[in-house]
Amino acid sequence: MKTQYRILIVDDEENVRQMLTTAFSLSGHQTLSAENGLDALQQFRDMQPDVVLMDIRMPHLNGLDALHQMHRLNPKIPVVLMTAWAGVETAVEALRNGAFDYVIKPFDLDELHMVINRALQLQAMKEEIRELHQALSDSWQWGHILTHTPCMMAICRDTAKIALSNANVLISGESGTGKELIARAIHYHSRRANGPFIKINCAALPDSLLESELFGHEKGAFTGAQVQRQGLFERAHLGTLLLDEIGEMPLNLQVKLLRVLQEREFERVGGSQTIKVDIRILAATNRNLADQVAQGLFREDLFYRLNVIHLEVPPLRQRAGDVVLLANHFVQKFASENQRDIIEIDPQALAYLNAWSWPGNVRELANVMERAVIMSTGAVIFPEDLPPQFQHLPATQPGTEEPGPVEGSLKEAVKRYEKQLLLNALARNDANRTHTALELGISRRALMYKLQEYAIE
Ligand SMILES: Nc1ncnc2c1ncn2[C@@H]1O[C@H](COP(=O)(O)OP(=O)(O)OP(=O)(O)O)[C@@H](O)[C@H]1O
Ligand SMILES: [Mg+2]
Repeated sequence: MKTQYRILIVDDEENVRQMLTTAFSLSGHQTLSAENGLDALQQFRDMQPDVVLMDIRMPHLNGLDALHQMHRLNPKIPVVLMTAWAGVETAVEALRNGAFDYVIKPFDLDELHMVINRALQLQAMKEEIRELHQALSDSWQWGHILTHTPCMMAICRDTAKIALSNANVLISGESGTGKELIARAIHYHSRRANGPFIKINCAALPDSLLESELFGHEKGAFTGAQVQRQGLFERAHLGTLLLDEIGEMPLNLQVKLLRVLQEREFERVGGSQTIKVDIRILAATNRNLADQVAQGLFREDLFYRLNVIHLEVPPLRQRAGDVVLLANHFVQKFASENQRDIIEIDPQALAYLNAWSWPGNVRELANVMERAVIMSTGAVIFPEDLPPQFQHLPATQPGTEEPGPVEGSLKEAVKRYEKQLLLNALARNDANRTHTALELGISRRALMYKLQEYAIE
């Protein structure tokens, strides 16, 4: 928090202005002063003070009217009013209209300092919270769902539209495909972005606990319920609740969930009071819910309620272009987390990554790249930095010849192959380094490093 502030002092009595100016200047603050509401408004607009200290009764626009207009110009700047005893009622009324506080004349300077400090602290705190929210929603920009592939881009586009509605969304897809990332993107781009985003994994808790976790419970509802507790439906009020692994939810809770979805109301476990909430529900699953409905494991009515909008996130192996993009993204991320210089991925290693089927999808890729960053010793990730199972893959790159029979150690064979790849790519691109690097999916810097390593002119 800053320690020096710009304080606008507004009073029609010159001696009051002077006394306050001196007091606040002595405490190291910058002061501005105005002798009526009109003058105050002008300075408020031009000088953007951090806080306003203003008399109520003044000629040419009184304090209340000035407060009203200041609030419209910038509601973030706190206004403290000054009043004589006779005006206390008016001052209280002003609190309702957005004044931060009031002090009664004649006032004690210490008290005034305290009120001003409180206003400034609150302001700084609000600003910090705003910045945090901003940072949080920035980090869930669509840009953070990295993708090159048309099917994922379509999902991102849909997600942007869906975010603005209040509809329930079912997000399905294999484990690690980015379902939670999409759920967060929906929340942080919705009108609920400043409300809570709460996630619960329905598979992680036994049935009875899941119920009280979701609905809360009253004191004494069951053995061990020593105090009343709010459930997640209540805590997510004005925000979004993500029910992860919804396919694992037991049938008896599915009935109760259906009611929340339909009526937005419920009772705590052991309670009779009906609680109303304003929440948006997102559900994620790596199962095929329609199949589960057919097998009688999932309620059909609940399925339709949740499935108002369905997003099916494709597995990574069906998003060919994304492996290289995400691999590079994770390398940069883990390199900076490990205080390592930017690390590039060797084309052979990239070819191996492309050939893998990624059963664990993006999460698996992130883990493999974190390991690779840790295992690599230089500025480049080589095939030997990948887990052993990757190095037995038939890694071919489109448009390149098959490697010849492997002689000598794997490392030597890989180097020979890599050198040939580089020569071929250079030839195809008329020795243009930038185009060659682009084709190989590495940076120009990494290419120059390779050319030097293989003594290619
Ligand atoms: N397109 C993407 N761009 C960047 N990071 C991604 C992308 N997709 C997934 N990730 C990252 O991969 C990890 C797994 O994603 P997430 O937790 O959203 O998957 P999930 O589908 O919910 O998995 P599970 O079914 O196991 O819960 C997270 O760290 C996420 O940030
Ligand atoms: Mg998840």
